[in-house]
Amino acid sequence: MQNALELRINELLSQMTLGEKVGQLVQISAPRDEAGKERLKSRIRNGNVGSVILAFSATAGNDAQQDTQVEVYNELQRVAVEESRMGIPVLFGRDVIHGHRTVMPIPLASAGSFNPELVEKCYAAVACEAANDGVQWAFSPMVDVCHDPRWGRIIEGPGEDPYLASAMSRAIIRGFQGEDYSEKDRLAACVKHYLGYGASEGGRDYHRTELSDSTIYNLILPPFRAAVDAGVATVMSSFNDINGQPVTSSKKYLTDILRGYLNFRGFVVSDWAALANLRRQGVAETEAQCAAMALKAGVDMDMVDDYYSNHLQALVRSGEVPEALVDNAVRNVLRVKLSKGLFEDPYIHKNGYDRAAHLRMAYELAAESMILLKNDDHTLPLAKHTKIALAGPFKQERRALLGSWVLDGKEEETPHFREALENALQGSEGAVICNGEDITEDAAEKVFAKGDVIVLAFGESHLVSGERHSLADIELTEHQISLARRAHNTGKPVIGVIFCGRPLALQAVEPYLDAILCAWHCGSATAPVAADILLGNLVPNGKAPVTFVKTTGHIPLYYNATPSALANNGYYDQNPEDCYLDIPASPMYPFGYGLSYTDFTCSPIRCEQSTLTLEELKAGEKFTLTVDLQNTGLYDGRETLQLYIRDKVASVMRPMRELKAFQKVSLAAGERRELSFTVGYEQLGFYREDGEYVVEPGGFDIYIGAHCLTRNQIAIQIKPC
Ligand code: GLC
Repeated sequence: MQNALELRINELLSQMTLGEKVGQLVQISAPRDEAGKERLKSRIRNGNVGSVILAFSATAGNDAQQDTQVEVYNELQRVAVEESRMGIPVLFGRDVIHGHRTVMPIPLASAGSFNPELVEKCYAAVACEAANDGVQWAFSPMVDVCHDPRWGRIIEGPGEDPYLASAMSRAIIRGFQGEDYSEKDRLAACVKHYLGYGASEGGRDYHRTELSDSTIYNLILPPFRAAVDAGVATVMSSFNDINGQPVTSSKKYLTDILRGYLNFRGFVVSDWAALANLRRQGVAETEAQCAAMALKAGVDMDMVDDYYSNHLQALVRSGEVPEALVDNAVRNVLRVKLSKGLFEDPYIHKNGYDRAAHLRMAYELAAESMILLKNDDHTLPLAKHTKIALAGPFKQERRALLGSWVLDGKEEETPHFREALENALQGSEGAVICNGEDITEDAAEKVFAKGDVIVLAFGESHLVSGERHSLADIELTEHQISLARRAHNTGKPVIGVIFCGRPLALQAVEPYLDAILCAWHCGSATAPVAADILLGNLVPNGKAPVTFVKTTGHIPLYYNATPSALANNGYYDQNPEDCYLDIPASPMYPFGYGLSYTDFTCSPIRCEQSTLTLEELKAGEKFTLTVDLQNTGLYDGRETLQLYIRDKVASVMRPMRELKAFQKVSLAAGERRELSFTVGYEQLGFYREDGEYVVEPGGFDIYIGAHCLTRNQIAIQIKPC
C-alpha cells in the first residue's frame, strides 16, 4: 500500500512544472468577498495554491470568523480539479481547536478529565461536524506543555505534564483521524506548535525560549512523539525560537529531530506568516532569504505570506535552493492529500449528523473535566429546596463559557448559568434569586439577604486567554474579591463557581468561599454541568492538569521539577523560610488534585517483587503494583488514581515526581476494588541530551494516589545486570 502511494506521488511529481510544484507548498487564506474569490480561483486555475485556510485573517481565535461556506469551497475545488493542468485538489484547513458547532471544553479542561477514551469520542464528533461544513484538515491538537499560566495559550494545551499531554495528543488525533482519515467524516490532524512554544519566557506570547536538549527530549517532545506514533498527518512549526534559533529556520528541530529521530512522514506547515517573522527575529534580511531558510530547515508549506510563491522558483533557478528540496516538500504534501482521499473524492458532502448526541458528549466531557477544589463542611451538593442567591459577573454570561478559539460555536445557543440553575430546580421548592444584569455590589447585597446560600459566578473572559492574550496578573479581579468578602460577611454558605480559561490564582478569594468549583470554559454544556454539579445531579471528578498557584508571583511553580539544593522550594517538603518570605510557595491546588462528593481511600501499595535487574527489565519484565481503592462515602463516584515515579539517584537530576500511569474508575458507595499498575522499562528511564533513552540501575520511589502530593509510596530497586 505504501509503495503504491509513493509510486503515485512520484508519477504526479514527474509531470509537474516547477511552478506547479511550488504551488502545492502555498496556503492562502479564504476569500472575503467575490473579488477575492475570483482572484483565488485564478491562482488555483494556474496551479499556484495547495491549500486554503478557512480564516480570512489572523484572528487568533479571538473574534468570530465567517461561517464556513461549503458551496464556495466545492466551487474552488472544482476549479482545481477540472480547470488546472494537473487537477490536484486543494486541502481546506481550519482552526478546529476544541469543537465546531458543538463546542467541547477547552483542551486544558478536558486534559483534566484524565479520560482519553472520552476525549477521542468527542473529537470524532467534532470531526464529523467540521467535515460536514467543508473542513478537511484541523490545526489541532495543540500539545505545548506549559509551566506558566500567564501565557494565554495554556488554555489550548494539555497542561504541565508530558505523560498526560501524550495521552491527550493521541486521543485527539485518533478522534480526528480515526483508523483512516480518508473517510468523509474524518479530518487530517495537525499537531502543534512544534516546538517549545509553551515555554515562552514570562508567558509572553511569541517570546523567546531557553530550553536544554534534555528538557526538550523529556518534557516538550513526548506529546509530539505520541502524535507521530499515532500517525498524525501534519505538524505546524512554532513562532518561537529555541536558544536563539527560530524554529521556522531550524533544520535541527524540523528535519533532524522531527523526521530523523521521530520518523515523521507527513508535511510541516508554518504558523501564520511565520516566514516573515525571520526578519523580525533578525536572522534574515530579505523575503527570499526567509523562503530559502524555511524550506532548507524543513517547512513544507508556507501559511499565507506568499514567500514561497514569490521566491522559490527564482531560488531554485539560481541554484540557491536545490529543486530536490522542493520535490521532497511536494511529496510530503501529496502524501497527505492522497491519504485524505482527495483524488478519489475531493468534494464536500453535507451528510448531516446527530447534533443532540454531540451535545450529550459535550455535557459528558464537561462533567468529567470540572474540578471541585474546595468543599468545607460538605457545603455542596445543595438540596433541591435551596433558595440560591446568585451574583457575580458571569451569572448570565454566555460567550465566555465557550472559551477562546471558538470559530463556529454560537453564543445564542449557549445556556448561561442562571437559566441552567433555574432549569435544574424546576419542579422543586428551590429558587434562584438574582438581580439580572446588575452586577454592582449593593445590588448583590440585596440578593444575598434573600437566599439560603450564596453562589458567586466568577472567572475570566475568553478574551483574556488564547493567542496574543497573556496576563501579568492572574488573580481574580478586585470586584470579585470584594463581592466574595461581602458574601462571606453575611455568615451564609458561599460557593464560588469559577468560569476560567487558565488556572487562576485564588489565594485572595479562597478564605471567603466555603466551596469552589472550577468550571473552566467547558464549551456548550458549561452552565448545565456546573448547575447539575452544584445540585448533586452530578458528582464532580475532574483533576488539575496544571498547578493552581496561590499568587502570580509564584510562577513558575510546577509539580515535575527537579529538587533544589537545600529544599524543594514550593512543592515538596515546603519550608517557608526557604522559599518566599511573604507567601509560602506551596501550590494552592497541586497537579492531579480534585475532590468528589464522596470519599475514597487507597490502601498501601503492594509489590510482590520489588527488585528486578536491568536485563530483566529490558527483556520486558515489569513491576506490578497493587492497591485497594474504596469508596467510603455516601455517593457513587469516580476517582483517578495516579502513579508517579521518582528516580532517586541518577547520572543527572531527575524530577521529584513523574506521572507514568493513571486509572479512572467508578465505584459505588461502599465499593472496594483492587487496582494494579505495571511499571517497566518504558516508564523508568529518561532521555539523555542526545535523545537516547536510558534506564539506570538504582532505587526508585513509586507513588500511587489521588494527586502528586500523595505519600502512599513504596520503594523498588533496579539492580545492575
Ligand atoms: C495562529 C496560531 C495557530 C493557528 C494559525 C492559523 O497564529 O498560532 O495556532 O492554527 O495561526 O490560524
